[in-house]
Order: sequence, then C-alpha cells, then structure tokens
Amino acid sequence: MTSNQFWRLNHHPQGTDFAGALSLESETLAPLAQGQVRVATHWLSMDAGTRMWMGPRTDGYQPPLPLGTAMVGLVLGRVSESRDPAFPEGALVRGFGQWAEVATMDPALSGLTVLDDTVADPRAHFGELGMNAWTAYVGVKEVAAAKPGEWLVVSAAAGATGSLVCQVARNLGVRVIGMAGGPEKCRYLTEELGAEIAIDYKAEDVAARLAAVPGGVHAYFDNVGGPLLDAVLPNMAHYGRVAVCGLVAGYNSDEPLPGPARFDQVLMRRLRIEGFFIPDFLHRGAEFMPVLREWMDAGKLKVRFDETVGIENVLVGYDRMLSGKNIGKAIVKVAR
Ligand SMILES: NC(=O)c1ccc[n+]([C@@H]2O[C@H](COP(=O)([O-])OP(=O)(O)OC[C@H]3O[C@@H](n4cnc5c(N)ncnc54)[C@H](OP(=O)(O)O)[C@@H]3O)[C@@H](O)[C@H]2O)c1
Repeated sequence: MTSNQFWRLNHHPQGTDFAGALSLESETLAPLAQGQVRVATHWLSMDAGTRMWMGPRTDGYQPPLPLGTAMVGLVLGRVSESRDPAFPEGALVRGFGQWAEVATMDPALSGLTVLDDTVADPRAHFGELGMNAWTAYVGVKEVAAAKPGEWLVVSAAAGATGSLVCQVARNLGVRVIGMAGGPEKCRYLTEELGAEIAIDYKAEDVAARLAAVPGGVHAYFDNVGGPLLDAVLPNMAHYGRVAVCGLVAGYNSDEPLPGPARFDQVLMRRLRIEGFFIPDFLHRGAEFMPVLREWMDAGKLKVRFDETVGIENVLVGYDRMLSGKNIGKAIVKVAR
C-alpha cells in the first residue's frame, strides 16, 4: 500500500476540542529509508498521557509534538515492509508510531518490540501484557511498595491502568479500594477486579469513606491528582506511600495541576511520595512478563476493551477515554 491516512496535530487543543486541533490526512508513502520499519496498524492505544504531547508545555516528561506533524501513540500491528532485519515482514510488533493506517518507525526511537505471536488475542499486548500492566506492576510492587494485608487505594480504577492495578494488588494479597466515576464502574471494581471497597467519587464523600478504612490507607496509586489526592492524604496510615502515576485531572489544561492542599500530611504522617514513568523501566520487561503471563493464563489478570472501530473514529475513542466513558482499556481497531 503506498497511500496512507494519518492524524495530524494542527493546533494545541483547547480543553477537549480534539476535532478542532487534529485532522485526518492522506499521503503517499515515501520509499522506506535504511533501518526503518513500516507497520500495518491493527490497533492504536488510547493513552491519557498522550494528551500532554498535544499541548504547548515544555516542562512535561516528554517534549510536546511539533504542530503540523502526525500524532503519535502506541501502535500494535504487523511489519508490512522492513529495512531492519530484526523486524521481518509479518512480525507482530508494538511501538510508538503515528496514528496512521501505516506507521513508519525507527526501531530504536520508537521502542519497537517483536511480540509473542502465540497469544490467542493479540490485543493482550495492549492489555494484560502491555504498558499499562507494566505500569500497574511497578507502581504497586515497587513505588507504592504495597504489602500483603495492607490497604491500597487507586484512582481512575476502572480504566486501563487502574483496572490492572486492582488485579495486580489483589494477586499480591493487597486489599484494594478502587475509586471511579459512576455505579457501573464501581460494580466492575468489586464484582470483577477484586476490590473490597469501591467509591463513586462523583457521587460520594471520598474523604468520609476513606476515614472509615480501619488503620488507614497504606498506599495510594494516584492516576488523577487534584481533589482526590486531597481526600486521600489525611486518611493515609503513618509511613504510607503515594505512587504518582498520572495527573489526569489536569491534562485538558495547559496549566500545571496545583499541588496538594493537604501537603502538610506528608510530614504529619511521614509519607513518601514518588512519581514514576514506565518508559524508565522498559529494560526490565523480561522480568515483568513471566509474572503477568502466568496471571493471565491462570485467569487472574483480565482486561476489558473499549474498542472503537476505524481510523476515521480515532478522536471518538480518544474522547471516550479522557471523558471517562471507557471501562477498561480504550483502543481503536484500524485494520478491518
Ligand atoms: N506514569 C506512567 O508511566 C503511566 C503509564 C500509563 C498511564 N499513566 C497514567 O495513568 C492514568 C490513567 O491513564 P490510562 O491511559 O490508563 O487511561 P484510563 O484510566 O483508561 O482512562 C482515563 C480515566 O481517567 C478518569 N478521569 C478522567 N478525568 C478525571 C478527573 N478529572 N478526575 C478523576 N478521574 C478522571 C476517567 O475515569 P472515571 O470515570 O473514573 O473518571 C477515565 O476513564 C493517567 O493519569 C495516565 O497518565 C501513567
């Protein structure tokens, strides 16, 4: 295929006006350069963190994408053309590439990885075996350092990262409290993900619910920041740990999210707060994968997909995820 469709970032989005900032474009693919690989996209991953790449801020963990270039995210697909022998034609791969029918990648820069093609549903490479699962595993086990019998709270608990956090923690014997928006998500947390307590943060007094946790909260896996962090901090146990994974409450603004109003509790309760970013852990994949695979095969790690179909509908899928309409992992099926 020499023609290609891709999403171009034209402007920094105002809030959630993605249609006003990105457009679907057609191009003719240039000849592939030495060392490059082309991937026919089967699925695109819709990740909350990519919202920061669309904005103008230069103090984030990734530089902003230049305006006028293709939007980038995680791509799962098959190599359609290759000038790198490590990525032969037909191989199932995952890496950071353009939101496009065909993504052209430089393997070293895009973190391109050949995947296990024997997994029954290849979407697992965006789910139980994907980056959100690695994030959940590192965050729960190492950053939040949650131990069996302790209480761990997680926000955005019914989303991709959060739903995996609930299950990883449960599998490690940690007691889980999930916070999510709406009763359907809360049922999902307790009925399918092993949370003992679910809090509908849109309808309930979060601080009051957490105040009733016996002994306080030992670990907080924070995907959100903002008012939820303020509700959690005064309800932490002494020597508790906060793993700052994401600050989605602030992603639709070009301004940094204000810091916690209850920062005093860090001293009063002798808390440790630590941010982490999964690309810093990519070299440790071989360590995480056997554990995740074993849990998946044993039915102890399951991901629900919120799948939107069609390259033309990418912004629909993206908006579903950032506005919380998704339960589980938001993806877009590109190849039909
Ligand atoms: N540090 C890392 O390396 C790393 C890696 C992966 C993901 N993350 C972070 O993990 C978080 C989740 O990302 P994801 O890609 O897995 O997306 P996701 O959780 O599948 O989807 C985003 C969810 O965020 C919730 N949300 C949106 N706005 C909110 C607000 N103002 N207050 C509370 N909740 C809100 C929504 O659920 P509700 O209905 O519950 O509101 C929505 O479903 C993000 O902060 C992301 O940056 C970090």
